[in-house]
Amino acid sequence: MQSMIKELTEKVSVAFAACGYDEKLGAVTLSDRQDLCQFQCNGAFAGAKLYRKAPKMIAQEVAAVLEQNPVFAKAETAGAGFINLTVSDDFLAGYVTAAVQEAHFGIEQIGAGQTIVLDYGGPNVAKPLHIGHLRPAIIGEALKRIARSAGYQVVSDVHLGDWGLQMGLVIAEIEERDSNYREKGVIPELTADMLNEIYPFASKKSKEDEIFKARAKEITALLQKGEPKYRDLWRVMIEVSVSDMKRNYARLGVDFDLWNGESDAAPYVDELMGILEQKHLLRESEGALVVDVAEESDKAPVPPMIVQKSDHSSIYATTDLATILQRQRDFSPAKIWYVVDIRQSLHFLQVFRCARMAGLVPESTELAHLPNGTMNGPDGKPFKTRDGGVMKLSDFYDTVLTEARRRIAESEYGSEDEKESTANKIAVAAIKFGDLINHRSKDYIFEMEKFMSSEGKTGAYLLYTIARINSILRKTGENAEPAAVRIYGLYSAEERALALEAAMASHAVLSAVNEKAPNFVCDYAYNLACAFSKFYHNHHIAGETDAQVRASRLGLCVITREILVRCLDMLGIEPVDFM
Ligand code: ARG
Repeated sequence: MQSMIKELTEKVSVAFAACGYDEKLGAVTLSDRQDLCQFQCNGAFAGAKLYRKAPKMIAQEVAAVLEQNPVFAKAETAGAGFINLTVSDDFLAGYVTAAVQEAHFGIEQIGAGQTIVLDYGGPNVAKPLHIGHLRPAIIGEALKRIARSAGYQVVSDVHLGDWGLQMGLVIAEIEERDSNYREKGVIPELTADMLNEIYPFASKKSKEDEIFKARAKEITALLQKGEPKYRDLWRVMIEVSVSDMKRNYARLGVDFDLWNGESDAAPYVDELMGILEQKHLLRESEGALVVDVAEESDKAPVPPMIVQKSDHSSIYATTDLATILQRQRDFSPAKIWYVVDIRQSLHFLQVFRCARMAGLVPESTELAHLPNGTMNGPDGKPFKTRDGGVMKLSDFYDTVLTEARRRIAESEYGSEDEKESTANKIAVAAIKFGDLINHRSKDYIFEMEKFMSSEGKTGAYLLYTIARINSILRKTGENAEPAAVRIYGLYSAEERALALEAAMASHAVLSAVNEKAPNFVCDYAYNLACAFSKFYHNHHIAGETDAQVRASRLGLCVITREILVRCLDMLGIEPVDFM
């Protein structure tokens, strides 16, 4: 189905054409004065310039045509040439009923036939997931689900950091500590905790000890060349790290289709270097190979990008470029999106410029860095542990879960197991909604009280609204499937406002996809829940005596619930039965 806005735009365009004007003037938007009308069209102003006529005259002609259309209850001119539109209740009720009963839920499938590779998460082997990994994970997960609901085929790839110097550092340290490995190549038993201890230790040591650092670099280069002793240990490190990561991501409801790493692009590095060479893009600089990616119009300097170090090893930029080749080969994606911290903007600018110069993907392929801002603590600085250290992602989640458990303990419903599962869902909802309601590129402050509250723009408020609708529908004992929805009329301003909000679902999802920003879905879900609350507080629903009014109101309940559940699903949040 088309979004409501598109459908109305089509009708108004036809009216402009019928009056002899360019149909492009017919763009409809949601009205910013809902007290006056639901939608508006401002095309008469642009038309006035084209046809040298007063905008008001054009608006009046077009409104007269629209008045004849049963879709509109009202089509009036206002001010100097606005066209104010209100759709008929029949049309509105028919639209939302059809949408909730349609396979794609009324969401226009703008992505049908196109693939997006979505790169998010970006954890590093042997380093614990920390608070900085939270935002890319949940924003990426939401974008994946949102784009899928608009018909895109989305392949999510975690793009593990498994190929750089951090690998060499950890191996060098293990080699020093473990004589069995050093002398006989016996692979030690490793745990995630051990790796979490070794990496920071080795990283600090490399800053003080030049010899150690040189050794780590040498090992990195040897690992990349395939030295079996290092490969074997490296494989075990990945296994241990990845299973720990999977556990942590699963608690947050985040998962990936591909667990590829930087190392998986290694087979494409020679080909990449060949292309760069053939296109005369490589320049030697102090033994390393670089690509100049600066452009004349740059306002800030864009330094050359190193693609091969003097010891021939690959670095971050090399594997990112090679990964583009790999993704093009595997999926021919229409888009490759990267949800990565805003502090990596320069890196992606360089990588994308180089990829374009080298023609690694067709011109039409979109390469986009979707930068994420930072989650801050109450002091406005990146969220820290109490003693000022970097907070592990699992510790952060545990803190929120503890608070959710405390709150749910007071509930009169549910067994202990149900309470535990509900507490987890509430924790995830608090974290994700609290994050995603902000535009992804903005920083925000994590506030436990606010994020957990069942009032305001929170995940808990939406969970609560769904639980409330469930309880209304359960009590009637009637069929509450979307297929059973029948809306005979909209009997009040609140019902009309709720139906109108429900009709905007497709528009909200498409805005989120086009802007690559989940906050459009959050805002929309919140507005829908608010419209429902107003309706609920002012009307009898199950207790209504008129059969058609009652059925219509229950229908609005079903529609609202279905949309809210879908929106939360797009955000990666699961509904709860009780709170
Ligand atoms: N592992 C990287 C880091 O910790 C993030 C990876 C993001 N994705 C990418 N294709 N570069 O900074």
